[in-house]
Amino acid sequence: MAGIGPAAVASMGTDRPAHVAFDADAPAVLETRGLTLRFGGATIVDDVSFAVPEGLFVSVIGPNGAGKTSLFNLLSGLYRPTAGRVLLRGADLTPLSPSARARRGLGRSFQLTAIFPGLTTLENARLAAQAARPGNFAFWRGAGGDRRATERAAWALETVGLRGKDAVLAAALAHGDKRKLDLALLLCGEPEVLLLDEPTAGVSAEEVPVMLDVIRRIRRVEGKTVLMVEHKMEAVHDLSDRVAVLANGALVAYGAPDAVMADPFVRSAYLGVA
Ligand SMILES: Nc1ncnc2c1ncn2[C@@H]1O[C@H](COP(=O)(O)OP(=O)(O)OP(=O)(O)O)[C@@H](O)[C@H]1O
Ligand SMILES: [Mg+2]
Repeated sequence: MAGIGPAAVASMGTDRPAHVAFDADAPAVLETRGLTLRFGGATIVDDVSFAVPEGLFVSVIGPNGAGKTSLFNLLSGLYRPTAGRVLLRGADLTPLSPSARARRGLGRSFQLTAIFPGLTTLENARLAAQAARPGNFAFWRGAGGDRRATERAAWALETVGLRGKDAVLAAALAHGDKRKLDLALLLCGEPEVLLLDEPTAGVSAEEVPVMLDVIRRIRRVEGKTVLMVEHKMEAVHDLSDRVAVLANGALVAYGAPDAVMADPFVRSAYLGVA
């Protein structure tokens, strides 16, 4: 994605402003303006403005409690902002529910909550594909009825590497495979923008590279725009076109991975390196 956005970290130096707006000049798929969330007296997400250009893979990093999940909850519609807006291709999503946002193309992983343990992986995926297009339910008559949903489901399972486990009950899947199914369900919704919150969390050490390969494949196959929260810095470095740093709810740095990770401010404030 050469040529899009800043090549270096925004706002280096000691007079760093508290709020960094990123890629503000590129045509945005997903955009926030002054997004703010307060609970009681605490500011959880603090005036976050960004614009993610199409096809970019942006990782959001920051210390525990920085507000990363809260920011994703604002994007997906789980939380209502105290102030600010969320836009998808210029359309204001702020008043919309999570499901309405998903239908518009903003998909977030379900963190296993949408998996039906008593159904097979293929049945789970097919339901997710059908749910993405509610109008098609009228044409669905029993298993395999909606061919497009079935094809999408099979493709999603193939993409995440679960194709051989079509007939396995979700309850019987190992944890790593459940996380893959979670990603497959997300893909079944045919999102334009994927929000991945710590996709490797809880995945065993030997499964982490497998999950990262799956994410890489999703990226390569469909060229999706992705926003990912992740603590594993190697993964962030390998996968990302851009890295955004959130601290105390505010965006404090944004740029190419090498530049952000070499930034002395980021290294001392987040990476814990002097
Ligand atoms: N529903 C809520 N009610 C009150 N406070 C909340 C709520 N959700 C989050 N918070 C607070 O907001 C702050 C940011 O939490 P958040 O989960 O967004 O951080 P995070 O960056 O995702 O952290 P981690 O890296 O540990 O996942 C924390 O102080 C948390 O306690
Ligand atoms: Mg979190």
